[in-house]
Amino acid sequence: MTGFDMNLRQRNFRGVASRANMKLSSGFTYRNEVVQSRFGRSWKFFMKPFVAIASITIAVLGFGTIYSNVTSRDPCQVLAESISVNVSENLHRLFHFQSKTRDLTHETKTWVKLLAMSPVSQEFPNISTGSSTTWTGVYWSDISCRKLVEDHFPAFLQTYHSFPHTIQRVDSCRYLVLSMYGGVYADTDISIHASSVNEFERLIPDGVGLVESPYRYNEIWQNSLMTASSPGHVFWNITIEIMIERGTDRNVLSSTGPKMIGDAVERFRYRYVNGNNEINDVRTLPCELFQRLPLGEWDTTFLNVLGREVLARAVPMQGCGRYGDGKCEITRHVGKASWTNDAGIK
Ligand SMILES: *[C@@H]1O[C@H](CO)[C@@H](O)[C@H](O)[C@H]1NC(C)=O
Ligand SMILES: *[C@@H]1O[C@H](CO)[C@@H](O)[C@H](O)[C@H]1NC(C)=O
Ligand SMILES: *[C@@H]1O[C@H](CO)[C@@H](O)[C@H](O)[C@H]1NC(C)=O
Repeated sequence: MTGFDMNLRQRNFRGVASRANMKLSSGFTYRNEVVQSRFGRSWKFFMKPFVAIASITIAVLGFGTIYSNVTSRDPCQVLAESISVNVSENLHRLFHFQSKTRDLTHETKTWVKLLAMSPVSQEFPNISTGSSTTWTGVYWSDISCRKLVEDHFPAFLQTYHSFPHTIQRVDSCRYLVLSMYGGVYADTDISIHASSVNEFERLIPDGVGLVESPYRYNEIWQNSLMTASSPGHVFWNITIEIMIERGTDRNVLSSTGPKMIGDAVERFRYRYVNGNNEINDVRTLPCELFQRLPLGEWDTTFLNVLGREVLARAVPMQGCGRYGDGKCEITRHVGKASWTNDAGIK
């Protein structure tokens, strides 16, 4: 083998081929040095940005974790402040869930059990209306959502059909359902951990309840868990009004999702609270109780985890920080749905 040969191989194959050659021809010590320094340089070249990113990630994660722990409120104190003495008068005990199939997820089954639902699932148009002392599950498919719009919200029909994304129809259906029937809507990846059905019922506010988002840099509320003690709250009319205004908007968050909700709350407060009217019954379901940050779920993509675990913690969390022990936790959003907006429905 000539030196020229080795040079070529070294250039072509870098470390591996050259090191193999070195064993065969131990006389070429100077080439050994060349190879090592080249290898070292490329190693450093790749490691530098990696080390930088890792250090920044650890620093942000550390800061975020400490920050959210320091600013967190004691969830049991939040529970004591949020729970009312009596269950909301005339509470409509309907539990609504949306899914592609009637199969219940593990999380939905926790609701069925705690709320002792019977029947577990009715479907539009066969839904018991009026208040009842027992809970009934209501299953919403794409087909029953469409029928609901056709039968009861004709002014919304054109917008409903013209949404560019299915998830927009899925989102919008929830508001119509709560407007029409009242009750509780929960994504199928939210489980309930309340100590009793009475505890949960006493946490349902009169009027409308919207779950607080732990992702404060993005939005204030989410539509993953919402309550309406009775049907016909005017807040839902405002959501419909805004969805019609933004019907062709391709942005899911601002047309039918959490950003739309935020704008609807603002409009509701402007119209009904800033005026002479004293109605202020759109309330926040505090994230300490209902939607703590799902820390330590690494079952999703790297970018999702990075966004959720790092970015989320770098921004003030307003007490939605992590709590490992589940103390005073009422509901838990276990999945990636809050992040990817994928409630089992594409
Ligand atoms: C709770 O209900 C009882 C009995 O109906 C009533 O007397 C009491 O005023 C209620 N308390 C509150 C805080 O609404
Ligand atoms: C509703 O009830 C009617 C009459 O009992 C029945 O024929 C129909 O199939 C039911 N629809 C659904 C979606 O369950
Ligand atoms: C809200 O919408 C419902 C039906 O969608 C309607 O009956 C009601 O009059 C509306 N309320 C207001 C204040 O517009």
